[in-house]
Amino acid sequence: MTGTSANVETASPPRTLYVRTWGCQMNVYDSERMSEVLAPLGYRPVGSPDGADMVLLNTCHIREKAGEKVYSELGRLHLLQKARAAAGGRMIVAVAGCVAQAEGAEMARRAPFVDIVLGPQSYHRLPEMVARADRAAGRPVIDTGFPAVSKFDVLPEARRVGGVSAFLTVQEGCDKFCTFCVVPYTRGAEDSRPARAVVDEARRLVDGGAREIVLLGQNVNAWRDGGEGLADLIARVGAIDGLERVRYTTSHPNDMSEALIRAHAEVPCLMPHLHLPVQSGADRILAAMNRRHTSEDYRRLVARLRAARPDIALSSDFIVGYPGETDADFADTLALVDEIGFASAFAFKYSPRPGTPAAVVRPQVAEEVKNERLAALQERLAGQQRAFNRRAVGCTLPVLFERPGRHAGQLVGRTPYMQAVHVQGSRLTIGDLARVRVTGRTTNGLSGVVTEAPA
Ligand code: 5AD
Ligand code: SF4
Repeated sequence: MTGTSANVETASPPRTLYVRTWGCQMNVYDSERMSEVLAPLGYRPVGSPDGADMVLLNTCHIREKAGEKVYSELGRLHLLQKARAAAGGRMIVAVAGCVAQAEGAEMARRAPFVDIVLGPQSYHRLPEMVARADRAAGRPVIDTGFPAVSKFDVLPEARRVGGVSAFLTVQEGCDKFCTFCVVPYTRGAEDSRPARAVVDEARRLVDGGAREIVLLGQNVNAWRDGGEGLADLIARVGAIDGLERVRYTTSHPNDMSEALIRAHAEVPCLMPHLHLPVQSGADRILAAMNRRHTSEDYRRLVARLRAARPDIALSSDFIVGYPGETDADFADTLALVDEIGFASAFAFKYSPRPGTPAAVVRPQVAEEVKNERLAALQERLAGQQRAFNRRAVGCTLPVLFERPGRHAGQLVGRTPYMQAVHVQGSRLTIGDLARVRVTGRTTNGLSGVVTEAPA
């Protein structure tokens, strides 16, 4: 057929899209998908907001002062938008993600030049919202609802090609309601993407060159499809020809099923690294946080994981200065850290999130105390990370090369334990998996030499 059957992608005039992403890997995935749903409207990505036809900010609410950072970025964009208008053009400004979800119409009030405000559940509606914004300049288009239909059911098939290591969102939302966290309010209830859709997308990613897939979800180990759980999904994805590695993040301790622990022993491509946030080592604080597990539960879980996979590397998230946290509670956190031994971990100062139960608890911990505890915990965790990396020196490990390094002829890859390894002057290329003898440590990782060319 000819003429009228031309597809929308080629029929739309070319336009430029600048996307800025804050926050977690799930936001990185969402940004890729949003760029993709906009492609049929003619939008192609550019590296700067200057002169872009549309700017999309994909925001994250987990970190402190997230809202303020977005508003100050919007202030800068407003200037660009005005310059564009003065030159007779138009720049659509869209804000997506969790800050957009939390702010909703308030954002359109505080920053009336914003054209589109859309929550994480709405990005499949982006093309329609852009069309409305095109027609009605000056009237913001807002969609921050939680639709009855799962986004996973209505999103078009992904066509994206990730890198060597590709993110794939399989689950969204959270029903846990930890008292400090905005996610259950901004991302909504737990929702799993059907196994078949996940496996299809994984296969396309592998066809496009991915050799590692990272299954993503706010509570990824709560993933379900009928009677199947995440262990079944990992087995299915892991069976794809050409795929070398599978990882998953982020997990809640209470959703670590026996089957998932067993998968760490039985599925060869499942990497021995697990991000398993514990937040605190004090039972009083864990109860106040509504974590629904004790520090002993966490210790026992780690023991079971290590029994299944003795070399598993653990990482975690911690919050210091949760309201009511005493010196003794903080000492319990340090004791847990000493006992477990983490390969890496993130520590945050508690910061109140409007609308969450912990934000209104009084008294809050003084800022100086939070700062002291954060520094002490970070020092302890950094020491553990250094020790973990030191133990790798002299070992020969399989490394998957993901990107060029900063120096000419340098490649950067990852060990099974997520450590970055820099290799200089080898004949390998990105996407190769090779055995590397670790010879030393760098500021943020390891350096090594290739011992065996890829198969
Ligand atoms: N204050 C500090 N840290 C927080 N996190 C989530 N909410 C808050 C908050 N209000 C941290 C938790 C979580 C990580 C993604 O961010 O440790 O696991
Ligand atoms: Fe937030 Fe807790 Fe859910 Fe994690 S488990 S997303 S910290 S509410």
